[in-house]
Amino acid sequence: MNETAEIAVGLVAEIEDPGCREFQIGDGDWPFMGFVVHQAGQVYAYQNFCVHVGHQLNWMPDGFLSKDRSAILCASHGAQYEIDTGLCFRGPCVGKSLRPVDVEIRDGVIYVTGPTSM
Ligand code: FES
Repeated sequence: MNETAEIAVGLVAEIEDPGCREFQIGDGDWPFMGFVVHQAGQVYAYQNFCVHVGHQLNWMPDGFLSKDRSAILCASHGAQYEIDTGLCFRGPCVGKSLRPVDVEIRDGVIYVTGPTSM
């Protein structure tokens, strides 16, 4: 079973609303890759792994949102996921969901807890 770890992603105030920031947990060959989304004052966190084909969602650093910033967008084939639930509502994997990551805000800092490898 994978070990888990908590890491600080950064200050909520540093991330645009809406906006995103990538994070990595673990530093081995297969670290756990994820991202947080800051939207309407809330923060959500997911694994950076599209449930369609199974690779990362973004091509640009911290670039996870659709053009109108209303959804999480996979850059490969255009799957769109709800920001607050991770549920795919458009594209090739409708009905499937991104893997959520435990996220907590303490003193304005975003902390995520997840496995240290994929
Ligand atoms: S890999 Fe994400 S939509 Fe195909």
